[in-house]
Formats: sequence, structure tokens, C-alpha cells
Amino acid sequence: MADRKNFGSKLGVVLASAGSAVGLGNIWRFPTEVGENGGAAFVLVYLLCVILVGVPIMLGEFVIGRHTHANTATAYQQLAPGKWWRVQGTMGVLVAFIISCYYMVVAGWTLYYAYASLTGALQYQGDDATYFSDFFDNFVTHPWLPVLFAMLFMVMVHGIIVKGVQDGIERFSKVMMPMLLLIIAVLTVCAFSLPGSSEGLRYLLHPDFSKLSAQTVLNAIGQAFYSLSLAMGCLCTYASYFRDDTNLVKTAFSVSLIDTMVALLAGFIIFPAVFSVPGLEPGDGPGLVFKSLPYIFSHAFASMPVMGYIFSLLFYLLLFLAALTSAISIHEPVTAYLHEVHQMSRRKAALWVTMVSVVLGVVCSLSCGLLGDMKILGMTLFDCFDALPAKILMPVGGIIISLFTGWYLDRKLVEDELTNYGKLRFPLFPVFIFLLRWVIPVAIALVMV
Ligand code: TRP
Repeated sequence: MADRKNFGSKLGVVLASAGSAVGLGNIWRFPTEVGENGGAAFVLVYLLCVILVGVPIMLGEFVIGRHTHANTATAYQQLAPGKWWRVQGTMGVLVAFIISCYYMVVAGWTLYYAYASLTGALQYQGDDATYFSDFFDNFVTHPWLPVLFAMLFMVMVHGIIVKGVQDGIERFSKVMMPMLLLIIAVLTVCAFSLPGSSEGLRYLLHPDFSKLSAQTVLNAIGQAFYSLSLAMGCLCTYASYFRDDTNLVKTAFSVSLIDTMVALLAGFIIFPAVFSVPGLEPGDGPGLVFKSLPYIFSHAFASMPVMGYIFSLLFYLLLFLAALTSAISIHEPVTAYLHEVHQMSRRKAALWVTMVSVVLGVVCSLSCGLLGDMKILGMTLFDCFDALPAKILMPVGGIIISLFTGWYLDRKLVEDELTNYGKLRFPLFPVFIFLLRWVIPVAIALVMV
């Protein structure tokens, strides 16, 4: 593809990929999963999943993307012409759509909360601990407010995507990611001064292994895939914009490290807050971040309301920015696919993706309120859009990618990509191949069964 752009700098590569990885998955979904799966034991299993499953699969996607410099569907097609493997490329594109639809809904919530922080609507000094639970429930069941904010969010994503890889994604990530890391550092310090901080820390650091089950492990694997943006062609597409001198191994380690640090820090921010609010439990589900933190922001700083105001605004801004950089990485594979495979202009491709996502996203948003009775397998549409990819499609995609890179691809090709044709050293290469060939597929399959 003659007009194909690459990322311009090494820093751009790391920040754009980290921008994809760090998102609602870290700050919203991770604490929710930790809470629903029993705390510290889950955190430990999660860390193991990141190292043993996440990093190798990310490397696999990097190899596939960078070697072919093409969108995911074309990439698999090129590497395995006429073989079944290529289904993974197209499936990735499809699943990105599903994620995109409900991702924009939650991102819309964060945008609304940032807005409500700004106008002061999140300031409440009374003693009713259920005030913010009601505030959240009233908002998500509102007939059009969440829909409006989800749409606004998608318009912004669209604006960045149409600007392209270098002027849109890369430039934007270079500004946003440092800002995001700074905000999270400030908030962590603030959380340690809360009354519930020691209990929160104990919850995250003292494992109770009796709470572990196969389901917990599957949830941890799903969360690792989700948080690292794997198995859906996101990082594979980004890697197709890497230059030939990009160090894939170093990039994968940096991105995974940043992503994991942010998730843990988010836990350190949220659990002290949860334990400081009477009536909230760590297992309270997806609303946790939206119900516990506003209470903290307005009560922990009751003597200094300005600080509460600033922290609240900073936090929801943080969530929103994190969601934005991830949402563009979910949008890009689909846009690149339509642009390159179906020969649409980039502008037109992006418009299609945005429009279809918005339509499905609206339905998904309404399923939290007006359409709450519409159930599939006993779950609302919203829960389906979350669970289906994380618990089934991504683990299956993970198995396919590990088998594809471990067994099907020429071992020399993989090693050449990872060492930039002998210019870099990667002594762990045999371990990497062993994980891909045996450990990952067997482990995921066992846990799923
Ligand atoms: N990793 C992002 C997050 O943590 C979300 C995300 C981006 C994603 N791209 C993805 C999830 C691809 C699954 C697959 O919020």
C-alpha cells in the first residue's frame, strides 16, 4: 500500500499502544472484576496472566502486524493464503465492533461525570450514602441523556480517526498519555489519605486463595486480554504502522508494564474510596467507580470543597481521556479494514464505522434503562456485549493467535521480526515459542472447559 503511513517516532509507538491498552479496562473494569472475584487472589492470578499469556500474545500480534504492514484481515490472508487462519483476521474486525458499541456507552458516562463535576452537580455534602447510587441509577436509566453523551464521545473519536495515523492517533496520544499518568499519580497520593485506605490496601494485597476457581481464572484471562487490547486486531493494526526499526520486544514489555501499573494504581485509588463509603461493597459491580468516588470527593474534602471539586474533575477527565485513546484503537482496525480491503476513502470508511457503532451503541445504552427487559440468556444487551467478547471471543482468539504464531508461522520469520533481522537480541525466544505452542492454548482451553 503505497500511501500507508507509519508512526513517526519511538515515543509515539509506545504512547499510542499504551493509549490503546490503558482505558476503561484498567480504571473501571479492573476494579469491578477484582471486587466481583474476591480481591487480592484475583490480582495475583491476573498478574500471572499478563506475564504468561498477555505479553506473548501481544508479541505475536506485533509480529503479524509489522511483518505484513497491513490491516488484520489482509495480514492473515497474506501470511496464510487460502487457509482457515484468515478467519481470525476478519473475526477480529467484527468483534472490535461489538466492543466499540458498549465501550462508547461507558465512555459516555465518564464524559457526563466530567461534565457534572465541572458544573458542581457532583458536590453533595449531606449524609445520605445512597445519594450517588441513586444519582448514577437515575442517569443511566434516563431516556436520552446517556445516549447523548455516548454520541458526543463517538463524534470526538471520529474527529481523531479521520485525521489519520500520524496527525490524529499519534499526535493525540503524545499529549494525552503523559497527562493521564500525571493525573493518576496525583490521585493515588490523595487516596492514601482516606480513612478506608488501610482496609482497601489489605483487600488488594492479602490474597484469600479459597476464593479461587476456574471461573476466576477465566475472568482473569479475559480481563488481561481486554486490558491489553488483545485478540481483536487492535495492536496488530497499530503494529502494522510500526517502522522496521521498532523494537517489538521492548515495546510489548513497556506497554504491558504501563498498563498493569495503571490498573493497580486504579485499584489503589478506588478500594480505599469504596471502604470509606458506608453501605458500598467491593462486589457492587459496574457502577462502583461511579457510586463510590463522588461521595469520597465531596466528603473526604468537606473542609476544603475546592479540592474535592478539583479531584473529581481530574478523575473523570482521566477516565474520559483513557477511554478516548482506547476507543480510537478499537475504531482504527475496522476503518483500516474498510479502507484497504473495500477500497473506500479513509474518510468514508471512518464515517461508516462511526455510524454503525452509534446505532448499536444507542441500543446498548438503552438496554440499561428503557429496554432493560430485553434479555439475551438472562443478561441485558449491555452485559452481553461485555461478557461475550471477554469470556468467549477473546480467549478463543487468543488460542488461535498463539497456535498461529507458535506452530503455523515460520519460526525464522518470527525470530527475524522480533530481533529486527538479527540486529537485536532476544534470548527468551525459545521460552516465548514454548508458551505460544503449549502453555497458552492448553491453559486457556482447560479453563474454558
Ligand atoms: N484495552 C482497552 C481498555 O483497557 C480497551 C480496548 C482497546 C480493547 N482495544 C481493545 C479491548 C481490543 C479488547 C480488545 O480499556
